[in-house]
Amino acid sequence: MASQPPDLRYDPYDYDIDADPHPVWRRLRDEAPLYHNPDYDFWALSRFADVLEVSVDWQTYSSARGTVLELIDKIPEPAPMIFRDPPEHARLRKLVSRAFSPRRMAELEKPVREIARGLLDAQVGAGGFDYVADFGAKLPSMVISSMLGVPEADRDDIRRWTDAVLHREPGETLDDARMSEVQGKLWGYFARYIAERRSAPRDDMMTDLLEAEIEEEGGARRLTDVEVLVFIGLLSAAGNETVARLLGWAGDTLARFPDQRRALVERPGLIPNAVEELLRYEAPSPVQGRTLTRDARWHGRRVPAGATLLLLTGSAGRDEREYPDPDRFDVERRFERHVSLGYGIHFCLGASLARLEGRVALEETLARFPEWRVDPDAAEMVHTSTVRGYAKLPIRT
Ligand code: HEM
Repeated sequence: MASQPPDLRYDPYDYDIDADPHPVWRRLRDEAPLYHNPDYDFWALSRFADVLEVSVDWQTYSSARGTVLELIDKIPEPAPMIFRDPPEHARLRKLVSRAFSPRRMAELEKPVREIARGLLDAQVGAGGFDYVADFGAKLPSMVISSMLGVPEADRDDIRRWTDAVLHREPGETLDDARMSEVQGKLWGYFARYIAERRSAPRDDMMTDLLEAEIEEEGGARRLTDVEVLVFIGLLSAAGNETVARLLGWAGDTLARFPDQRRALVERPGLIPNAVEELLRYEAPSPVQGRTLTRDARWHGRRVPAGATLLLLTGSAGRDEREYPDPDRFDVERRFERHVSLGYGIHFCLGASLARLEGRVALEETLARFPEWRVDPDAAEMVHTSTVRGYAKLPIRT
């Protein structure tokens, strides 16, 4: 295939496409499996097998210039690990992996459940609530903030600032002034906490990070304040935004497929599989960027070294070449893998936490509210080029 249909346009900043990208993604998979967007000068792969192949080849497809389209070559230094290649990536990842070990995750189930119960109990008898604003967005931010050691009173501010950093106006790729203003607030806040922890260590992740040692050629050393800030920024952005979107998709998709919801009420043992199916069906983080370190060939065309390549993980989850009848949402679907949590060395560090939060959120929701309706006119999407899903999802219970 040497060209692409002139009427086929995929623009990740277009609100209309973002509202329902599946028809465009399907056309990309069928008609332009390697797509080039001349306006933003990016290339995109949309088929499952292609996304998988690129994800494991970090030597050719680098994350080091950034993985968010509008931030390519604009990433701050020191860059978070998600924007690094080996060997720095591996050193940084090792530092925080302990906080996400299976044992730590098992310990988290109780507090996650308590937070979920508290938020949902407050809505019993109310007749309805906003499943994202009152629940889906609050749960992960309370969980990650408590892991980091942020006081409860400050958690809503943190979430609002993180939302504002990622938000994009229609047609806007990046508003530098707004971004630095909000980023400044966020960092100023955490900088104060770091100073406090240095003088009075506690049993939380922030203290762990301050005490962790990173191996370098010249020997081991502690992280600087700024490096700790970068870690915290990454964990709170990655932990808040994505799970909030996953839960929004759960609220919406289960209302659309009441038979599937009923199956989960009757057989809660299906919930872990339903979380995987939700991730496949509506990927909360549907686009990951890479930069080519050398020329590559895809579907008969050359992609030059230095080019930006987008992996459309959201499209990969609906690829009929991998999943039979992919537009059917089926909580009993059997499949071995998806790429909605990434694949390869950058595989989502918080995957077990995301799965835990997803499972507990659904168990607790369905135990109280076996049925609900979404008010489609009052629902609102978030607008970012990194996550996709609802900002508001009012439901009637
Ligand atoms: C449903 C929820 C989530 C989704 C869909 C999601 C998705 C992803 C994806 C697709 C990647 C790979 C990015 C790439 O290849 O460039 C990733 C990486 C990452 N995620 Fe998640 N994520 C979720 C939840 C979380 C949570 C709860 C945390 C932490 C609290 C987290 C922390 C991270 C970090 C630190 C990375 C970078 C890993 C690395 O570079 O090695 N994520 N996530």
